Amino acid sequence: MISCSAPGKVILFGEHAVVYGEPALALAIDRRITCKVEESDEGTTVNGYDINEEHHGYILHALRRVGVERELEITTESQMPSGAGLGSSAAITEAALGGFRDLTSSFDEKTLAEDGFEVEWTVQGNASPIDTSTVTHGNAVLLSDEKLSDHLWTIEKEGNVWNIHHRDIPDIQLVVGYTGVHARTGPLVRRVKRFYRNNNFAKEIVRDIGDMVRQGSDALEKGDLERLGGLMTKNHKLLSILGVSHPKLDALVRAANRYSYGAKLTGAGGGGSMVALTDEPEKVSEAIRKRGGEPYTVDSAEEGLKIED
Ligand code: MEV
Repeated sequence: MISCSAPGKVILFGEHAVVYGEPALALAIDRRITCKVEESDEGTTVNGYDINEEHHGYILHALRRVGVERELEITTESQMPSGAGLGSSAAITEAALGGFRDLTSSFDEKTLAEDGFEVEWTVQGNASPIDTSTVTHGNAVLLSDEKLSDHLWTIEKEGNVWNIHHRDIPDIQLVVGYTGVHARTGPLVRRVKRFYRNNNFAKEIVRDIGDMVRQGSDALEKGDLERLGGLMTKNHKLLSILGVSHPKLDALVRAANRYSYGAKLTGAGGGGSMVALTDEPEKVSEAIRKRGGEPYTVDSAEEGLKIED
């Protein structure tokens, strides 16, 4: 039996715009998904159910990507809600790929990140490598069209070039607020894609988000939390204009902002979660709870994808 786990992630800046080659910054978090894989002679199952495209799209395409033809019993365990914007799809994809690759005995971060990106692209109808690279590498990860310091690998697709860089975990406190509204990434990414293709205004918003990421990454390096938080809130407003916020997300962002440097939705939006940058995590958690959200204090995680003992 092989057991492989990957962390979730929070995106600090740049979701959606990164799909069009703009930069993005994300952190791996201390909530993980584990995927156990063992040989079977009763067909391939996931958590006891026959594997199928509708419920197990990411795992099914991960299997196809690696070309495993054996029958497998696959079991997953998660420490985070799915559809909450915390990277559960990327984590399940990478944990599954890690397990399957180990079966075929070739395992390296870059190949796994590339494979995971291709799987997300297939399932979502478009994607960027932000989630899959972050959960594979751990720590903090910056994607950029330019090659910067601490370059890890480059992924290219359909004219976009994403250079993936390691960043040290920043010394900041984050509180995540889950709206309880389950949102699937694929339909949101496809909705933004239609808007982006047909509308110059949407293209401008995407470029403005890219500028927020560049400024945010500079503020983070300088430890300027006031500026960092202000940019996060601006990023949230731009994402709302792109049509991926939700009334519950806006309410949680407003509530958290009273005790925070700034707050924004994180991940694909449409529900899911928001994240606040704060020195007062208890007060922010309470404010989120009062507004009907579920607060999570998350720590960043150094460890990316790993084979469990
Ligand atoms: C989802 O966590 C991030 C998106 O930008 C999609 C992607 O980059 O693949 C919305």
